[in-house]
Parts: sequence; C-alpha cells; structure tokens
Amino acid sequence: VKIAVLVSGRGSNLQAIIDSIEKGYIKNAAVSVVISNKADAYALERAEKHGISAVFLDPEGRDRAGYDREILKILKQYDTDLLLLAGYFRLLGSEIIEAYRHRILNIHPSLLPAFKGLHAQKQAFEYGVKVAGCTVHFVDEGLDSGPIIIQKCVPVLPEDTEETLTARILEQEHIIYPEAVRLFVESKLKVEGRNVITLK
Ligand code: GRF
Repeated sequence: VKIAVLVSGRGSNLQAIIDSIEKGYIKNAAVSVVISNKADAYALERAEKHGISAVFLDPEGRDRAGYDREILKILKQYDTDLLLLAGYFRLLGSEIIEAYRHRILNIHPSLLPAFKGLHAQKQAFEYGVKVAGCTVHFVDEGLDSGPIIIQKCVPVLPEDTEETLTARILEQEHIIYPEAVRLFVESKLKVEGRNVITLK
C-alpha cells in the first residue's frame, strides 16, 4: 500500500506512522510522498530524514480547485492508494474526495461530532467537558464529518490546562492513527453508510 500524507506543520502524527512502518507494526505499506502547503513545515524535514519525497506545494496564486488538481497529479505520480491528512490545515475539494472515496483518513483531536474545526482541544477545555479525546475518520465533503474508524477518550483532570490536556490527547493520537492505518492496509475496514465495521 502506497501512502501519501498531507501536512501543514509539526508532523508528529506523520512521525508516528513512519515509526509504525519501520517497526513492522504496519506491514506491506510505505509512505511514498509527504506534501505540505507550508514551506517551513517541520513535517517535510521528518520525511527527508527517512528518505521520503517531501514536496512543498505553494497555494499562492492558485484557487482551491487548481491547488487540489496539483495534489491529485502528485498522488497519481506516486501511485497513491491511501491518503492521510496529518495536521493539514486546509479543506480538501470534492475532486480529490471523489477520486479517493473511503481512501482518505484524518485525525482530529476531539471526540467527534463534538468540537469540529480548529483548536478542538481549546474548545473542549473551555466547554468544561470531563472527558476529551481524539478520532480517526474517513474524510468526506463535510468538515470533520466522515465515518468514524477509531476513537479514544482521555480524562480531563481538575489541574489540567489547555496544554496538558492537548498533550494527553496527542499521546493517544499517536496510538490510534497507526492503528487505523494498519486496519486499512490489512483491508479490515468496511464502510456501510456512516458505520465503519472492523473485520476480524
Ligand atoms: C494534531 O493534534 C491533529 O489531531 C490535528 O492537528 C495536530 C497535528 O499535529 N489535526 P502534528 O502535525 O501531527 O504534530
């Protein structure tokens, strides 16, 4: 399975995927290209350190459809089977979503459908929830709205700050994202409407 990853920043989830492949937790898969919409994304350096093609695709001077067509070209060029969003802070257009239906995954730092969009951990913290968490889901046309693959919850503790809560959630992200990718690679995910069934 050839994987492409879209990023915008730090890339700690990208790193978790790369490490899971290198350790043999995810077998028969490789990250073949990492694409960023930000020139200075640390994720690009992480890719290079592992000998993975790292591409900065400048959004400047392109509309969304034009930008997405450039992404599609790269995905085809690398024979991509699976597209991962890992801290990619842009919406994908319908062309890519249709071309890769049920083959695009995203990680979101909340228990969806609560706290969609940006700064989900801050939203949860300010709302005063007692449990928070993260979600891996398939990407559809909506914002953080596709069928859910795995969720993990963490407690919100009385002494928490937004930062400590964010760190506790991130730790779980690094566990469930590789888990979901592994299930996908092993063809164990079946989508029935909104429901994702995990095969044995
Ligand atoms: C993570 O919290 C992820 O859930 C969210 O953006 C953040 C990206 O972090 N979508 P990183 O770039 O993977 O370190």
